Amino acid sequence: MAVRLGLIGAGRIGAVHAAAIRGSSRVSIAAIVDPRPSLASVFPANVPHYPDVSALISSGTIDAALVAAPTRHHHEIVETLVRGGIPTLCDKPCGLASGQVEAIAAAAATNSVPVRVAYWRRHVPALDDVRQRIHAGTFGDVYCAVTEQWDEWPPSAEFRDVRSSGGLAKDCGVHDFDLLRWLLGQEISAVAGFASTVRSQDPVPEDPEAASFAGAPERWDDRADEPRS
Ligand SMILES: NC(=O)c1ccc[n+]([C@@H]2O[C@H](COP(=O)([O-])OP(=O)(O)OC[C@H]3O[C@@H](n4cnc5c(N)ncnc54)[C@H](O)[C@@H]3O)[C@@H](O)[C@H]2O)c1
Repeated sequence: MAVRLGLIGAGRIGAVHAAAIRGSSRVSIAAIVDPRPSLASVFPANVPHYPDVSALISSGTIDAALVAAPTRHHHEIVETLVRGGIPTLCDKPCGLASGQVEAIAAAAATNSVPVRVAYWRRHVPALDDVRQRIHAGTFGDVYCAVTEQWDEWPPSAEFRDVRSSGGLAKDCGVHDFDLLRWLLGQEISAVAGFASTVRSQDPVPEDPEAASFAGAPERWDDRADEPRS
């Protein structure tokens, strides 16, 4: 029987997740939580729609949850799910501050509930190939690694709002920090960064982060728990 998933947040990335799940025999979207009144264009009318996560948990209709709500809500939603015993996959980042994520990790351990963050780049075969070759020493000692990311279109104003997402450098930058740690098998111990008004495009109207940002890990610690071979 397919795992019954509750989708929390059915916007841009929620629709991407839903499209990927559609047709799977192993997992299905059994319920949705989203305050938007009409999701009919994305989801069949027979998928039940709950007003909040507590109502979803009480319904007893799901086995696990996928959180794709705006970032500012993640820590509260995930903690509620974990305390309700629901295994959870949360889109990145899992919270806006490290203390929020540590609280989720503690709740997950206390309740013995699995929680994962959707760092999907770890599952890209080409990146896994690079990782394996770095760890095998194919490139020798790595002194410099550069990551970049971009979108086809500017994300929504809410996504770019620092109060909602933490800002692009945080909301999207977590991918780069996760990727560097995972690829190189080392822990970052210090970060240096600078903001610049140099950009290749006109700023997005009302974008609080019209300036570009560059950040770089300054120091690395070898990870004792992850041998490099
Ligand atoms: N893994 C990735 O590469 C990736 C890519 C894009 C977005 N994301 C993450 O996904 C999350 C959503 O981003 P998006 O671009 O889809 O945003 P979006 O604004 O398009 O969609 C968010 C949806 O959540 C709903 N929502 C708002 N408050 C809610 C609540 N309290 N409970 C449930 N639903 C609520 C909104 O009505 C909306 O439909 C963000 O955290 C973002 O960082 C991850």
